[in-house]
Amino acid sequence: MEDSIDQILQDHSSIFPTNRPHPIVSACTGALLTGVYGVWSLFAMPGFRKIPWKLKVPYLPSCKTQTRNVMTLLEGRRGRLADLGSGDGRLVFAASSAGFQCTGFEINPILVAFAQSKALWRGVRASQAVFLKKDFWKTDLSSFNNVTAFLAPGVMQVLGEKLLTELPDDARVIACRFPFPNWPQKMSMGSGLNEVFAYDMRAVRLFLKSSPSTACK
Ligand SMILES: C[S@@+](CC[C@H](N)C(=O)[O-])C[C@H]1O[C@@H](n2cnc3c(N)ncnc32)[C@H](O)[C@@H]1O
Repeated sequence: MEDSIDQILQDHSSIFPTNRPHPIVSACTGALLTGVYGVWSLFAMPGFRKIPWKLKVPYLPSCKTQTRNVMTLLEGRRGRLADLGSGDGRLVFAASSAGFQCTGFEINPILVAFAQSKALWRGVRASQAVFLKKDFWKTDLSSFNNVTAFLAPGVMQVLGEKLLTELPDDARVIACRFPFPNWPQKMSMGSGLNEVFAYDMRAVRLFLKSSPSTACK
């Protein structure tokens, strides 16, 4: 009996390959993973070292639906718009073609260069859109009356405190996917991952004044 089991196992091992992957497959997988990591780190990492760990936000582009939702919540508005973490510039391009004077703040120099060349390629003038390699946490935003932010849930409270200090009363803030904790929304658009939220600073300030216990600490 034991002999026949040995025989069966032997037969199977000759039919099926062993569990050990082929060296060429291992080498290709290794090279692929290294390449993916290399590209990812090029796009997501540069410039991040100086930002505190809890405020780090990786690059993730807005999809078309999210961009459309942002533009819907900006309908009827005009003036200066800041996109905080502008990535490849897609929100800035959408807003500039709707007539806003846009500034994209981006920490990643590769994304800034990419957005700038896209602007050049599309013939977008500097009066319509500029991309600055700048940490928005260290930038005074008081001259903007429209702000868009597609960031991360962990930074929204700190961002809320900064915007409350700096933005004028007539400013509108659009938060993509992650709402501000304790801020009253004027409206929202879309659902799930594409939901975006609009806040008017005057209403936010009035609300926080009338219910200080909910204000960001
Ligand atoms: C989730 S992506 C959004 C990109 C773009 N706004 C969009 O909607 O497609 C966030 C971007 O913020 C940038 N970023 C993160 N922290 C930043 C900072 N302190 N200053 C400027 N840009 C920052 C990242 O490099 C990344 O490109």
